[in-house]
Amino acid sequence: MSPLNVGIVGTGIFATDTHLPTFSKIPDIKPVACYNRTKAKAETFATKASIPQEQVYDSLESIFEAKDVDFIDALLPVQFNLDAVKLAVKNKKPIALEKPIAANMEQARSIVNLSRETDLPIAILENWSYRKSIDILKKEIIPKIGEVVSFTYKSTGPWNDNNKYLATSWRQKPEHIGGFLSDGGVHQLALLTDVLGPVESVSGLTKQLRKESGTDDVLFSTFKLASGVIGTFTYGSSFGATEKSTSFIIYGLEGSLTYDFSPHLAKPTITYQTGAGSASASEPIVVEVDEANTFVAEFENFVSAVKSGNKGDVHVKPENAFHHLAIVAAALESSAKGGDNVKVETI
Ligand SMILES: NC(=O)c1ccc[n+]([C@@H]2O[C@H](COP(=O)([O-])OP(=O)(O)OC[C@H]3O[C@@H](n4cnc5c(N)ncnc54)[C@H](OP(=O)(O)O)[C@@H]3O)[C@@H](O)[C@H]2O)c1
Repeated sequence: MSPLNVGIVGTGIFATDTHLPTFSKIPDIKPVACYNRTKAKAETFATKASIPQEQVYDSLESIFEAKDVDFIDALLPVQFNLDAVKLAVKNKKPIALEKPIAANMEQARSIVNLSRETDLPIAILENWSYRKSIDILKKEIIPKIGEVVSFTYKSTGPWNDNNKYLATSWRQKPEHIGGFLSDGGVHQLALLTDVLGPVESVSGLTKQLRKESGTDDVLFSTFKLASGVIGTFTYGSSFGATEKSTSFIIYGLEGSLTYDFSPHLAKPTITYQTGAGSASASEPIVVEVDEANTFVAEFENFVSAVKSGNKGDVHVKPENAFHHLAIVAAALESSAKGGDNVKVETI
């Protein structure tokens, strides 16, 4: 079968630095068209992607109407995701959208409703759901540590003035709730909920540490999951000098595990111990994970859904991404209420 023709909308940093190299690794995808608000940037992108200059479109509407475009890859400031989905449905184009699903819960709900009324595959590119570690944790390690009772998830890092994403104006004055907390937080929450299941309620406190973040940029919180499991979730990269680290500790009645995928590690590790207590504790066992290229994996998944024409084949659907943004929304609401426990909105 010939490759699927993709039209890229929003040819900014991530389209250029990550999606384009990803497409070059997938024979089933061929970039054929692009659009960007500032056209010169789309022209530069087209040259890099070997897209003919006449396939650089002048409006968002017109690229969605293009007959030779099989699906759209949208990398817009997320307040425009709903507009893009409306155009996708109107023009019957499958669409992959960058995360978070939308700028707020109202828009996220509209996207979920539109996705339910159409047969088109619609994917949210939260990316971390494609980590191999998720299956290893769920199928191989968690069964060894008995009934899961709680967790501690922590992803923290130092403020970085040279963060290239910081320079984007839509992040400096975020219309999306939570600013960096939803921008990066939904990746973490996709991973957490893929492993342990949905979150029922949140008590949290947020704070703005850096004016450049445009809004609150650190979150300290407690979650109650639908399963009854309780835990803590700490997130932020606005601190003073500290080693960037991400660790997910899961406590069971017959052991515990630590999934550490901090950037300083050569490979992510899962370290676990079994035993009902200190007297019967095993030695720690360390499993190194050969992680997948999660960007390739998510586009391979989307392409397979487009080819099958079955929207059910999409791994991260709008409903999943709605939940992840809803957790951030609940944390923000909780913080505004001084840390009160807030139920996570359901679709
Ligand atoms: N999955 C991940 O790990 C990951 C990582 C980074 C980013 N992302 C996502 O990728 C998307 C793009 O992020 P980025 O970092 O690449 O940002 P970016 O460089 O600012 O790219 C956004 C693009 O959208 C265009 N745009 C801005 N306002 C617009 C408007 N009103 N109408 C139409 N187009 C508009 C911009 O065009 P101009 O050239 O005119 O400004 C720009 O080229 C975001 O959704 C972000 O959340 C995902």
